[in-house]
Amino acid sequence: MNVARVLVSDKLSETGVKILKQCPAIEVDVKTGLPPEELIKIIPQYDGLVVRSATKVTKEIIEAGARLKVIGRAGIGVDNVDVRAASAKGVVVMNTPGGNNVTTAEHAVSMMMALSRQIPQATASVRAGKWEKNKFMGVELMGKTLGIIGIGRIGSLVVKRARGLEMRVIAYDPFISHEAAEKMGVELVTLDDVYARADFISIHTPKTPETTHLLNADTFKKMKKGVRIINCARGGIIDEAALARAIKDKIVAGAALDVFENEPPEPGNPLIGLEEVIYTPHLGAATAEAQENVALAVAEQFADFFTSGLIRNAVNVPSVDPEQLPVIRPYLWLGERMGSFIAQVAQGGVKEVLIDYFGGLAEIDQRPITQAILKGILTHYVGQSVNMVNAPFLAESRGIVVKATASTQKRNFAALVGLRLVTEKGSVYVEGTVFVGDEPRLVKLEKFLIEAQLDGTLLVVTNTDKPGVIGHIGTFLGDHNINIGAFNLGRAEAGGLAMSIVNIDSAPTQEQLKLLAKVENILDVKLVQI
Ligand code: NAD
Ligand code: MLT
Repeated sequence: MNVARVLVSDKLSETGVKILKQCPAIEVDVKTGLPPEELIKIIPQYDGLVVRSATKVTKEIIEAGARLKVIGRAGIGVDNVDVRAASAKGVVVMNTPGGNNVTTAEHAVSMMMALSRQIPQATASVRAGKWEKNKFMGVELMGKTLGIIGIGRIGSLVVKRARGLEMRVIAYDPFISHEAAEKMGVELVTLDDVYARADFISIHTPKTPETTHLLNADTFKKMKKGVRIINCARGGIIDEAALARAIKDKIVAGAALDVFENEPPEPGNPLIGLEEVIYTPHLGAATAEAQENVALAVAEQFADFFTSGLIRNAVNVPSVDPEQLPVIRPYLWLGERMGSFIAQVAQGGVKEVLIDYFGGLAEIDQRPITQAILKGILTHYVGQSVNMVNAPFLAESRGIVVKATASTQKRNFAALVGLRLVTEKGSVYVEGTVFVGDEPRLVKLEKFLIEAQLDGTLLVVTNTDKPGVIGHIGTFLGDHNINIGAFNLGRAEAGGLAMSIVNIDSAPTQEQLKLLAKVENILDVKLVQI
């Protein structure tokens, strides 16, 4: 077994390091606090890199990682990893969603409570020898309206805890159905409703182009006077200058921030120094339990990746559920082989890849199969550097249109993949399925029902359906000492066009192919190697 070298470049809980060390497929080095230039120097020796949030995994580092296959982020946000550069290079980026949900939800609730009673300010006052009982008048949470923006993993846990505090909870999340929200016990409303009704607003969305400066000068104007804001999600979702202004204008009574647009906040940050704002230095996930969870998760994901190739919690490639893996794995082989076959049969630059999934395949996540098909196709054009991670990226960057549809309708087989490759010179269509024993089979080529093993060396012959053609092909190959493994013939009607796929034991030379193409009634011959 090839042993993969993994570098842990941020402080990771000992449990995680121990799991990595115990995995026979992995050899691990822990080197924390490396300056970027040092990391660039040593990264070419490693197949995997594990980070928390301190290491900035830049494009330069990724590009220097000549054998880098996977980057693991022990945590949720991958904003310290250049995911685009990783995808372009075919490097899997994994995170560990779930491990720090409870911890972060608890932190948001703690921040809300500390904010409502000004606990940090009061602590500082007592520490300074003062006893300012009248200054720190708070507000109760019971009966107040909490508006949550984003009710995913963490937001939904905040909902539960806020309900326990007898708060009224409303939420905005465009990707959650009313039924799901109802089950959580939260009223799903519009963003403007959150602004108009909430006494407290807690943010739990990822930072995306859409959520960047979601809370800004205009939205603060829509808020209930005296609202308090909590952000334990990501810096930059709030426009910090606008929040400072809204506090000074007495629209916002206070804010509790765990995250900042720049971390640590720059000296001139307008929020630092405002009495109404309390802060923590990105501590949302900072509990022993959460750090143990995320370290354990990333280590187990790495052990799976380097032992069996299983990809879990990847942010740049669809992950396969371990339970679905035995079902989907043969279709990944099929997809890649169909892609390789069709690319070798087609001519001209690729314009479109059109995929139809039929029968049982409509019931599973087909995205990994699509990526395997793209890998098969693009390897023919780009070479061995293509993998399932960078294949969609390479397709997109070459302007190739990829479309996939799925239908539960069965077409001759319980599960079937239809694939059309449209090129500058025309198009080719194939269908494939998996036979018993996980054997990938081609079952249709253009309009011809034809059954061929997608393995080894194949000749694809187009001919007119006349007596003797098969004999001529057999004789020709025999004369050139090329052994036939299987001969598969398909024709639409007698005397019309026919196609054959011949599995052979060795490849003919280009010269021999040209000669075969000249044999009577043979119209075209292509060599395919899988
Ligand atoms: P999640 O993906 O489970 O949930 C995010 C939710 O936001 C989803 O339901 C999504 O539909 C919703 N959403 C997306 N775009 C939206 C929009 N424009 N408006 C409203 N809702 C939108 O994520 P999560 O695991 O719950 O994490 C939430 C946030 O917390 C992330 O930003 C994550 O990075 C951050 N986080 C911070 C800490 C910390 O230490 N402070 C720790 C863990 C996670
Ligand atoms: C995360 O994304 O997991 C959190 O922000 C916590 C962290 O950065 O460690």
